[in-house]
Amino acid sequence: MSRDPRPLVAGNWKMNGLKAGLEEIVAMRRAVEGRQAGDAEIIVCPPATLIISAAAVLQGGPIALGAQDCHPKAGGAYTGDISAAMLKDAGASYVIVGHSERRAGYGESDALVRSKAEAANEAGLAAIICVGETKAEREAGEAVSVVSGQIRGSLPPAATPANLVVAYEPVWAIGTGLTPTASDVADMHASIRALLGEIYGEAGVRVRILYGGSVKPSNARELLGLPNVDGALVGGASLKANDFMGIAGIYA
Ligand code: 13P
Repeated sequence: MSRDPRPLVAGNWKMNGLKAGLEEIVAMRRAVEGRQAGDAEIIVCPPATLIISAAAVLQGGPIALGAQDCHPKAGGAYTGDISAAMLKDAGASYVIVGHSERRAGYGESDALVRSKAEAANEAGLAAIICVGETKAEREAGEAVSVVSGQIRGSLPPAATPANLVVAYEPVWAIGTGLTPTASDVADMHASIRALLGEIYGEAGVRVRILYGGSVKPSNARELLGLPNVDGALVGGASLKANDFMGIAGIYA
């Protein structure tokens, strides 16, 4: 039976990937066409330099493309930046905004993240908005309040389940091999779900909530089987088709 909402497994390549990496994307396409991910929606978010060539190898197939960031403005004198319309034009249909590596590394505020998500939606892209607490915040018992604050501040009120995805990524679990306990993930996702209901009413049950942070083939079944976990945002394990499909394969 197909799940509702449709699960989403997204690969975030971060600042990794040269043209040679397109071979992995080709292998992912073959695997998804061979039903290795069941009914799950699969997207890859390579660096911006690869979006056009990745779009060419994915054309007409089941995998969609995402970008990793966008500027809140549609165009203008913003040297080095890329607008949501440019990403859409290059072949993306999603964009990640508010990743903790940008919130921490570039001081991105909730308000900025929200304006990026609004720009994405305006350009016809779905926004994957990342939230998550630091280790110190979790240890201080503040994880739920921190994440709730990020959600209230970063999510566009006009977004819909079709153009909004929330990714819960505890900062301390990213790239560390550490993951929260299953009950901590379930509790956080339940609290995010409740908040989405407050913000979006009935539509809140259809907004997908992904878990991200050290997801790998060996822990995917447990993490993605939890209530209110509608898929994964995968970093390191999305760089190789075999690992990525080992995760998406839980939906096969
Ligand atoms: P890892 O899967 O490498 O921990 O990264 C998670 C992440 O930040 C995805 O956006």
